[in-house]
Amino acid sequence: ADPDPLQDFCVADLNSSASVNGFPCKPSSEVTSGDFFFDGFTKEGNTRNIFRASVTPGNVLSFPGLNTLGISMNRVDFAPGGLNPPHSHPRATETGVVVQGKLLVGFVTTSNVFYSKEVGPGEMFVIPRGLVHFQRNIGEGKAQAFTAFNSHFPGTVLAASTLFAATPTVPNEVLTQAFQVDENVVNQIKSKFGS
Ligand code: GLV
Ligand code: MN
Repeated sequence: ADPDPLQDFCVADLNSSASVNGFPCKPSSEVTSGDFFFDGFTKEGNTRNIFRASVTPGNVLSFPGLNTLGISMNRVDFAPGGLNPPHSHPRATETGVVVQGKLLVGFVTTSNVFYSKEVGPGEMFVIPRGLVHFQRNIGEGKAQAFTAFNSHFPGTVLAASTLFAATPTVPNEVLTQAFQVDENVVNQIKSKFGS
């Protein structure tokens, strides 16, 4: 979904304050082989959190060599029962492959149709751009997947956090009306997400 590049590469200068569609390129005299390799997926992510899952991004911020190339990946680790909670990527379609364990992968369309399947090692899935989706570890042990995106910076909107953990907070009257629940329910959900 990103625009086509206008040069071979443009390794991001993340320290530049210049504002462009992407990051400015660091001078090619400073570019080395190391700029095109990333070892951030060699370690398992820390799944000791409320969702028992961990997403390690290999996007332009962690891997500046991806800048302007319209592509990125994540490593996703799941403890037993772990959930990569419902979220969407405004700037990319996502595809993925399970390398260990068994995941329930699902997404919901703009017509509220839910598509899902149990996905095992070597099997691939696709999440159309912008649609809300999740993966849940439904196997006995750990699970691991790699995902890929047609953007160097797909963006992630977490369904729960975007409404219940925004700063400043989204007014309770909006949330009680939107979800047709009492204020105590809204406050309870807000408290779970630390706001
Ligand atoms: C999985 O949904 C991911 O965004 O990596
Ligand atoms: Mn995703």
